[in-house]
Amino acid sequence: MEKLVHLDLLTYAGNLENLVDIQEDNRYHFVHGDIRDRELVNRLFDEYHFDTVVHFAVESHVDRSIVDPEIFLTTNVIGTQVLLDAAKSHWKIHPEDKYSREYKPDVRYLQVSTDEVYGALGKTGMFQETAPLSPNSPYSAAQTW
Ligand SMILES: NC(=O)c1ccc[n+]([C@@H]2O[C@H](COP(=O)([O-])OP(=O)(O)OC[C@H]3O[C@@H](n4cnc5c(N)ncnc54)[C@H](O)[C@@H]3O)[C@@H](O)[C@H]2O)c1
Repeated sequence: MEKLVHLDLLTYAGNLENLVDIQEDNRYHFVHGDIRDRELVNRLFDEYHFDTVVHFAVESHVDRSIVDPEIFLTTNVIGTQVLLDAAKSHWKIHPEDKYSREYKPDVRYLQVSTDEVYGALGKTGMFQETAPLSPNSPYSAAQTW
């Protein structure tokens, strides 16, 4: 890997101390910013020519999502849309063709979500990816990409 660019808003859930082991590595670049900031995200794609996006920047606390759901919608849904749009537009082979669905080879977008999109398990069992979606909180509903 040539470079790893880490975009994080450092909300109450973010903690740079978790990254002390890699902060001195000159392949690692931290960017303090918001995945909902379309201009910033596109600028980063222009600057770094990413071939891989791993997206796990979220609002993730179920109880908070019940009390204050709006930020779960904007971060987990709109933020994801911004990243997907940027990846698609920068990875298109024919960017001038709005309807083209041909993308560069060797690019990858990995979306991290949660098994809570399938609802709640009892004490045993496991979900399969083919299970019907059945989220039961604003958090899990906003993770059903
Ligand atoms: N932790 C778990 O037990 C668990 C279990 C299953 C699935 N997951 C999934 O893993 C992923 C990551 O979960 P987590 O537990 O690390 O979450 P977390 O809440 O601990 O961390 C979220 C990170 O996202 C950042 N962030 C929040 N809003 C942002 C924004 N608008 N722009 C940029 N950065 C922002 C925060 O600063 C923080 O660093 C999520 O998709 C979650 O659903 C986690």
